[in-house]
Amino acid sequence: MCGIVGYIGPKEKKEILLEGLQELEYRGYDSAGIALIENDTLKYFKSIGKLENLRVKTKNYTSEGFGVCIGHTRWATHGKPTELNAHPHLGAYSFVIHNGIIENYQEIKDELLAGGVNFLSQTDTETIVHYFEKNCKRNGHAFEAFQQTVERLQGAYATLLISEAAPDTIFFAKNGSPMLIAFDGDDVYFASSDSPVIGRATEVYYLEDGEYGYAKAGEVKLFDENGEKSFTRQALTADKVLAQKDGYRFFMEKEIYEQSRVMGETMMGRVLDESIVFDELDNSLFEGIKAIKICACGTSYHSALTSAYLFERIAKVRCDVEIASEFRYKEPLLTKDTLFITISQSGETADTLEALKMAKRAGLKSLSICNVDNSSIVRESDAAILTRAGIEKGVASTKAFATQTMVLWMLALYMGQERATVSSARLKAEIGAMLHTPKALIVTDELHAKLHRLSKRYLHGHGFFFIGRDIFFPLALEGALKLKEISYLHAEGYPAGEMKHGPIALADSELFTIALMPKTMHYDKIKSNVEELSARDATILAISPEPFKLADDFIQTQYSSHPMVEFFEMMVVTQLLALEISVRLGNDVDMPRNLAKSVTVE
Ligand code: F6R
Repeated sequence: MCGIVGYIGPKEKKEILLEGLQELEYRGYDSAGIALIENDTLKYFKSIGKLENLRVKTKNYTSEGFGVCIGHTRWATHGKPTELNAHPHLGAYSFVIHNGIIENYQEIKDELLAGGVNFLSQTDTETIVHYFEKNCKRNGHAFEAFQQTVERLQGAYATLLISEAAPDTIFFAKNGSPMLIAFDGDDVYFASSDSPVIGRATEVYYLEDGEYGYAKAGEVKLFDENGEKSFTRQALTADKVLAQKDGYRFFMEKEIYEQSRVMGETMMGRVLDESIVFDELDNSLFEGIKAIKICACGTSYHSALTSAYLFERIAKVRCDVEIASEFRYKEPLLTKDTLFITISQSGETADTLEALKMAKRAGLKSLSICNVDNSSIVRESDAAILTRAGIEKGVASTKAFATQTMVLWMLALYMGQERATVSSARLKAEIGAMLHTPKALIVTDELHAKLHRLSKRYLHGHGFFFIGRDIFFPLALEGALKLKEISYLHAEGYPAGEMKHGPIALADSELFTIALMPKTMHYDKIKSNVEELSARDATILAISPEPFKLADDFIQTQYSSHPMVEFFEMMVVTQLLALEISVRLGNDVDMPRNLAKSVTVE
């Protein structure tokens, strides 16, 4: 989740870097840094916290003449957010910045340490610069040294390196993390997405995985495993908003598609092969804790409800969930053996913030799960886990919900691991399922086209019931909320087994039932519940890996290995259904009427 900017040319470099990083700051903001080579000499500035701190630190500096420069804004994966861990990382005479994770860094680091290299940071990134300099020392040729370095790296990376060994050059490599090269005449820019270069450059080349090379003034050489290759530049849009939508019609649509990728970032450095790690948590947070209370609103409340099943099932700890606006006035009984968790995308929701303050006044330890660092809720909490979804622009929350739910699943497992309530076999199986989740979140053309076609039959009727059991009940609530927010149609989420206690009276052909029928969780039970509705002529849209004869419409899901994997796959289906219905109704998908992205009033 880090941001990268680079530039070669005669223009003032500090402003190019700082302005570019400003565009990317939403991706990571626990520290930032820049490095430049001017008159063959390296200079660098780093600071922790927001970019503003770096701006203050560099206030009296301006670059002069032709030069090369790189800048980075960081979201910590290896090592805490300190100045030493901030990029760029320095060797003896070179600097590197990097986005991603070098999986084999420990092996390279051990080798370098054995050779007497001194490491300043705890990051995986620092190995790149030292390994480059080791190669440089051996063969005396900077590009060859870089090439050998790239060949050795395993994992995901987008990296830029500058060195006094080649003071007019930027070396670049990309594998698994995004990076582009942009051009304006002889000026060359690098960035991890196009917003920093829009308005500065006119042409762009989006690097492919496995590509690397070097750039000097007006000259870019590109290579892959087969040697040097040519590439074609394309025109770069001048429209920032259009570019931010990446070709999607709406931000919400883009964010639904992004879920598969951001989930990888949520797990990065936290979900290891056999354990869950949260560097941001101190174990004292859990000392003496016998119960969990979660407060949240709206979509965040639905992720909380989902997690209550997981905390009790996996970590064997009692978990109650409350809507923050209700909690505030109920004169709740709070005991200090309860960990108070708040969940919020924005970190600014007034009701949730106030609930947190109440819990703190009662002496409870607090943890927030949030997408915005330094937000009020994060600042107010004893500890925070960031969801790393990236900025969410669509008012109807999608990727924030997905990443909140993933963090909560990870946290339940983490607590289970620390309290020894999960066996190592179960832990491994859960981790295996987690790592599988990004796949289940991929939106295929076929699925999207099917939901587009099918949506035309769901534009009227007297209401929608989304039904599910267990963790699929909160998902039903969330599916219904998504639909009502952007379609303005009446929709309710209901526990499937509860329909017979009243709501089934509404059943007729104009009652649309969206049935979440996972194979791995109470399939026969929910099947009976849906059969009861079908017998009363309700129109059924079934979502399941198992074909269901009574369905009027059917979406067949692909994965049936683990309930959470089914959960995430079905979540995407409900999000796309809401989107397509809203589009057909001609509504403003990204800014639905009467809603706001951040609800800072009571
Ligand atoms: C629905 C939605 C809202 C928010 C709610 C809480 O799509 O986004 O229901 O979930 O307003 O907001 P946060 O999560 O920012 O506290």
